[in-house]
Amino acid sequence: MPVSDTLTPTGPAHRGERPARVATRRRLLMCRPRHYDVTYSINPWMSPGRGTDGALALRQWERLRDLYVELGHSVEEIEPVEDLPDMVFAANGATVVDGKVLGARFRHAERTAEGPAYLRWFQERGYQDVLWPQHVNEGEGDFLTVGRRILAGTGFRTDIRSHAEAQEFFGLPVTSLTLVDPRHYHLDTALAVLSDDEIMYYPEAFTPGSRAVLRTLFPNAVIASAEDAAVFGLNAFSDGRHVLLPSAAKGLRAQLRAHGFEPVGVELTELLKAGGSVKCCTLELRDR
Ligand code: ARG
Repeated sequence: MPVSDTLTPTGPAHRGERPARVATRRRLLMCRPRHYDVTYSINPWMSPGRGTDGALALRQWERLRDLYVELGHSVEEIEPVEDLPDMVFAANGATVVDGKVLGARFRHAERTAEGPAYLRWFQERGYQDVLWPQHVNEGEGDFLTVGRRILAGTGFRTDIRSHAEAQEFFGLPVTSLTLVDPRHYHLDTALAVLSDDEIMYYPEAFTPGSRAVLRTLFPNAVIASAEDAAVFGLNAFSDGRHVLLPSAAKGLRAQLRAHGFEPVGVELTELLKAGGSVKCCTLELRDR
């Protein structure tokens, strides 16, 4: 069912179980994997010798883009740059909240040039409030907006000093969370935002202190199993009703259904070879 701008009560509410899940229309930025490949290794998923199927990667990515459009979202595309094979992971390109754009500054030299390429896209489109950051941050890979709060990952990529930088720039509370498992090197590989006050996550990817913080803030969160986390099930995108996630995350799909969401399985196996999936390919443009 496509998204609507109005509040249409459908689904479980009719049976008096819980309020209906309502999708809201989103603006998304994506980058076609025209130059995608695994030519270096900066996370445990990447094995440059293994080879990638460029045509399949493109088909899988197009399916994701088409799904967004079918669901009623609008998708913008940024021109991919040669020699930047990871640029397909648009989530890392910036963080956009209330129409303000915090640029991304990458940890690894292989991805450094993506930061200015994404920033230029925003400048050319007239975004006024744009900040080139002082500290390393990998965009929505590590900054996830939940309602009027930002959850911020650190431990592998994003510098914890950038959390204060983001709080000051957006004027929103930023909560730091520390990642410990190298397979979950970005926050968006261990935690997904489902609605303005709900998340799902894999506790083992975090330090004990960060787990306690998540339990305090989100006592009713959906908890992912090790199996679902291992197939990148948490690298998901939710519009408030539909949750797009890797098809292989069977347990999470059932849990989401039980919570009143509509899980939509997506095959992005070629992109997983670089350590990315649904959310990594998707940057949300939260314009005012
Ligand atoms: N190969 C990329 C990297 O290691 C994958 C980035 C995935 N993006 C994400 N939002 N988690 O940087």
